[in-house]
Amino acid sequence: MPSNYDNSAWFYDRLSRLVYGNALVNAQVYLLPYVPVNSNVLIIGGGTGWILEELAGIHPTGLTITYVEISAKMMALSQKRGCGNNKVIFINQPAEEVSFFEEFDVIITPFLFDNFKESTLQQVFTHIHHPLKAGGLWLNTDFKLTGKRWQNVLLKSMFLFFKIVCGIETSVLPDIEQQFKQRGYTVIAERSFFGEFVISTVYQK
Ligand SMILES: C[S@@+](CC[C@H](N)C(=O)[O-])C[C@H]1O[C@@H](n2cnc3c(N)ncnc32)[C@H](O)[C@@H]1O
Repeated sequence: MPSNYDNSAWFYDRLSRLVYGNALVNAQVYLLPYVPVNSNVLIIGGGTGWILEELAGIHPTGLTITYVEISAKMMALSQKRGCGNNKVIFINQPAEEVSFFEEFDVIITPFLFDNFKESTLQQVFTHIHHPLKAGGLWLNTDFKLTGKRWQNVLLKSMFLFFKIVCGIETSVLPDIEQQFKQRGYTVIAERSFFGEFVISTVYQK
């Protein structure tokens, strides 16, 4: 049963900023300059869609963006965002159920994989990996445990909260890095945020 962020759509951004300040936004904005001009971009799990406005700030035109979001309420908020003159195709479905008939230059997955248990992560990752062009970039941001106790406490609290409110399926962070390693992705750039609890990585296929 996939999670449903509908219940959290109206407060998600405010809660995120309350707990993390601008860290979760900065972690994603850090990756956006790596999007090449005139590229074909796939964004999965963009939440309320503020990332579309940030992307349009860098590329006001020339992008073709496929925006996949499972939550209807998150999607409705995203569709109100300013996207400049970029072409955006909105798909309100679980990413793993979308048939991708084209190839992408860039994939963006911001705090998507932490929602999944290990088996779902593998399934979704494999499904997305195929339509990325050879040499294409995958911009991933997510939480990472680096051995600090407070990170564990914060993560457990988040999992519990989002399990109750949105029905997310996991209580532990799946091994996201391993997925990229297994398929031979190269790390082009990387930066951590919020006391190393958040990691943003530019991977190349
Ligand atoms: C933790 S939120 C992150 C939202 C946004 N990226 C941000 O940082 O503000 C995860 C988002 O992924 C979406 N999502 C979860 N599972 C999904 C799936 N299988 N396919 C597409 N979107 C999914 C949720 O609806 C939610 O909007």
